Amino acid sequence: MTTENAPTTHDAEDDPRNADLKIWVNGALVHKDEAVVSVYDSGFMLGDGMWEGMRLYDGEWAFFDDHMDRLFNSLKAVSLEIDETPDDIRDLLDATAKANGMTGDAHCRLMITRGRKVKPFQHPSLSRSGPTIVAILEHSKPAEHLAEKGIRLASVPQVRGLPHSQDAKFNSHSKLNCVIACLQAEQAGADEALMLDPHGFVNTTNACNFFIVRKDEVWTSTGDYCMNGVTRQKVIDLCRDNGIPVREKNYSLYEAYSADEAFLTGTFGAQTPVASIDGKVVGSGDRPVMTRIRALYKQLIAKDIAGQKQRRTAAHQ
Ligand SMILES: Cc1ncc(COP(=O)(O)O)c(C=O)c1O
Repeated sequence: MTTENAPTTHDAEDDPRNADLKIWVNGALVHKDEAVVSVYDSGFMLGDGMWEGMRLYDGEWAFFDDHMDRLFNSLKAVSLEIDETPDDIRDLLDATAKANGMTGDAHCRLMITRGRKVKPFQHPSLSRSGPTIVAILEHSKPAEHLAEKGIRLASVPQVRGLPHSQDAKFNSHSKLNCVIACLQAEQAGADEALMLDPHGFVNTTNACNFFIVRKDEVWTSTGDYCMNGVTRQKVIDLCRDNGIPVREKNYSLYEAYSADEAFLTGTFGAQTPVASIDGKVVGSGDRPVMTRIRALYKQLIAKDIAGQKQRRTAAHQ
């Protein structure tokens, strides 16, 4: 059972242009209604693939190199070989953005799977047609209500896994662990799941990284068991560079419940405030530390985009 129209951290303002998107499917730009992969695709059949979420600002993909590092590390770890370089990936994303008339306020889900299998079984050697590469770009402005109201979290029984089962650092197509957690949160009347690590410490949410603020100190998990979020790392670095005390540490729900502020991080929503955890309201509703971090993050994106533009110009001279 799912709660219809419940807010999610990926709620975007309605945009009618999204009805007519062109999707990149293995080198072709196809209308979204006709954009399909084979039922034999290893991504569809097994969740055997990796993906990245990226955002377009003023014609550039924010923190592109960080996203490519994570993607190529994951592909290497599962021996999923592609001919494309990060520059080729940028070219295909740019071509898709151009085909959709996008220069900003756009979100991309880039998906790379082991490709079509010759038989409907698990063995990776059955994928013999080369990888499948798909890029879905949508016009996307995070919904205003999230930035104001915040999100309701519920702690859930589903925990983050140990790295020797399915390492949480894989942004794999198989998100079942997170999906189960999200269902549990919905069933508890919340919008998103707050997941614990195998020892019971607060770790992350099913789709974003999680931070709390206590007495002007910013806390997040040690980084074990959670996605190595690009936004998470940027927030930690920004705190360090701007004199905001930040700690990557173990802490429990006890400390999360009594935090002054709590927020999520992710490429889509940047920093999203948390309104409540397990029905307990977080802080007073004032969010001075998160507000400062949001402003610093905005500046960091502008700097990153300007740097990328400069490098492009220099490369064309
Ligand atoms: C489980 C999970 N945590 C956190 C994140 C946020 O990562 P990023 O900041 O790189 O978008 C994601 C995004 O893919 C995710 O799937």
